[in-house]
Amino acid sequence: MCGIVGYIGASLAAPILVEGLTKLEYRGYDSAGIAIAGKDGIEVKKAKGKLAVLERQLQSGMPTGTVGIGHTRWATHGKPSNENSHPHIDNSGDFAVVHNGIIENFQKLRDQLEEEGTVFTSQTDTEVLAHLVAKYYDGDLEAAVRRLIVDIEGSFAMAFLCKHEPDKIVAVRKDSPLVVGLGDGEFYLASDIPAILKHTRRTYILDDGEMAVLTRRGVTVKCCGTGTCIEKEVFQVEWDAVAAEKGGYDHFMLKEIFEQPKALRDTLSGRIVENGHVTLNMEELKLDPAELRAANKVCIVACGTAYHAGFVGKYIIENLARIPVEVDVASEFRYRNPLVDAHTLMVVVSQSGETADTLAALREAKGKGAKVFAVTNVVGSSIAREADAVLYTWAGPEIAVASTKAYTTQLLAMNLLALALAEARGTLSAEEISEIAGAMREIPKQVEDVLNAAGEVRMVAEKIKKWNDAFFIGRSIDYAVAMEGSLKLKEISYIHAEAYAAGELKHGTLALITENIPVIALATQEQVLEKTISNIQEVKARGAMIIAVAQEGNKEIVKFADVLLTVPRTHPALTPILAVVPLQLLSYYTSVVRGCDVDKPRNLAKSVTVE
Ligand code: F6R
Repeated sequence: MCGIVGYIGASLAAPILVEGLTKLEYRGYDSAGIAIAGKDGIEVKKAKGKLAVLERQLQSGMPTGTVGIGHTRWATHGKPSNENSHPHIDNSGDFAVVHNGIIENFQKLRDQLEEEGTVFTSQTDTEVLAHLVAKYYDGDLEAAVRRLIVDIEGSFAMAFLCKHEPDKIVAVRKDSPLVVGLGDGEFYLASDIPAILKHTRRTYILDDGEMAVLTRRGVTVKCCGTGTCIEKEVFQVEWDAVAAEKGGYDHFMLKEIFEQPKALRDTLSGRIVENGHVTLNMEELKLDPAELRAANKVCIVACGTAYHAGFVGKYIIENLARIPVEVDVASEFRYRNPLVDAHTLMVVVSQSGETADTLAALREAKGKGAKVFAVTNVVGSSIAREADAVLYTWAGPEIAVASTKAYTTQLLAMNLLALALAEARGTLSAEEISEIAGAMREIPKQVEDVLNAAGEVRMVAEKIKKWNDAFFIGRSIDYAVAMEGSLKLKEISYIHAEAYAAGELKHGTLALITENIPVIALATQEQVLEKTISNIQEVKARGAMIIAVAQEGNKEIVKFADVLLTVPRTHPALTPILAVVPLQLLSYYTSVVRGCDVDKPRNLAKSVTVE
């Protein structure tokens, strides 16, 4: 996590860097800072807290140089503090560095440097980089950076300034994203595209092991190991800056919840073709039917919300395509010596395409011979580039830390994959595929209908706002949705929430049910409806307040629910896309009424590029 920016050109660097950092604050907001190279050396301004604190500091003295680097931090090594904020400088003050990632062997390097007389001023892993570049500098910043890379282990996207070469920024990446923006006589650097989109849509997306040297004359990309120049293709960003703005909504999260119909339409577009029957466009899906037939199991690996999408995927794929599906959190996958081989279809799901654990899982599976199919939202991301095939979710930029539109488009992707597998393996008839694909086409409009009832959900938020605990229950695929509902509520409203398979409650957790405690019960699955209603009665009998999410026309549930939120009827495999929307809205409104920072929940960051 953390976000880095850089600028070199004719304008004052500081305001451009700060403006870029505002677009990266989703990556971390524990502290922020900038370093500007001017005629008198390098000037550093940094402060603990959100970017606004740094902005206030800059009001009383804006550095005047036209070359600089900046950083917004999500603390890993060393608590949030002024000293631990980036940029970090060496003891002479001649070098400055910003870094996103983790230097795993920093302690060893620090011990060595201290023995050599270096004085450290922070607890960060990053500070070793400033001292190492100073140690290896012999009149050539590029060479010093290339030398220090040899010493370090871990992940990094980093940028360096040097007092002796004030018209240059040297940046390098490994396992953390880095983008170069190509303007007219002005050049930019950023961890993510929104930070530079106001200035240019022409970019270079750096690959691992590449180094970018930014000067006033242009940008040269080199291989970090050999120093040879690399012909980089320009990546033209298709979406515009407006897509990354709040557009009149109070928060990015609310905007993104309301963007779901469009995101779903875009994700579906071109993926189903009509020729008498509705069938899948396998070519566009980039799935080889022969490979899908040959697979003997599917492994879905992801983190957080994307993992929850994978969990829904298990129910759908096993049910429709009759192939075993394992689902793992990526941080566990790699360390359990997974049973993966050339007959495994490995599916990695990641909004950002940069999550370190998911990327590591992808590499692990590839190393064992599996074909990797990625579902991601970011074109050109590390996961997109390393996978064998990619299904993009066209959700557009997701800025709020809590994922919403990425999740529902991932659910759609799981359905598309299930249908592709079912078609290739002959487990569904053409009519059955046509029926599900037809239902999929209705989904964006049905999500609109659910969003039209947002006012009702707002009132439910008033009912639960004083509670410190809540439970989400459901059976079958509803259990998977309950997991996502529970994560959403806890991460942005700080209400402790747990998700349970409804039938599991009586094996212990029922002891926690007290008078009026909120239980959010999902009851969208007809085949287990009676059983779910029995479980609802069990908690109701112990005094719980039941907030039920059910399909329209469900007459039974009305008798037991204190609040009923309905969603339109659809195919069972598609209900999660509708059922999660009231849960997203509930988390959002609860967070607002509890006075929380909706888009930037404490301790979190959007893109987790560290293990
Ligand atoms: C929660 C949330 C996270 C992410 C997780 C994976 O709302 O957004 O749990 O889903 O960090 O991120 P990606 O999908 O970028 O790999």
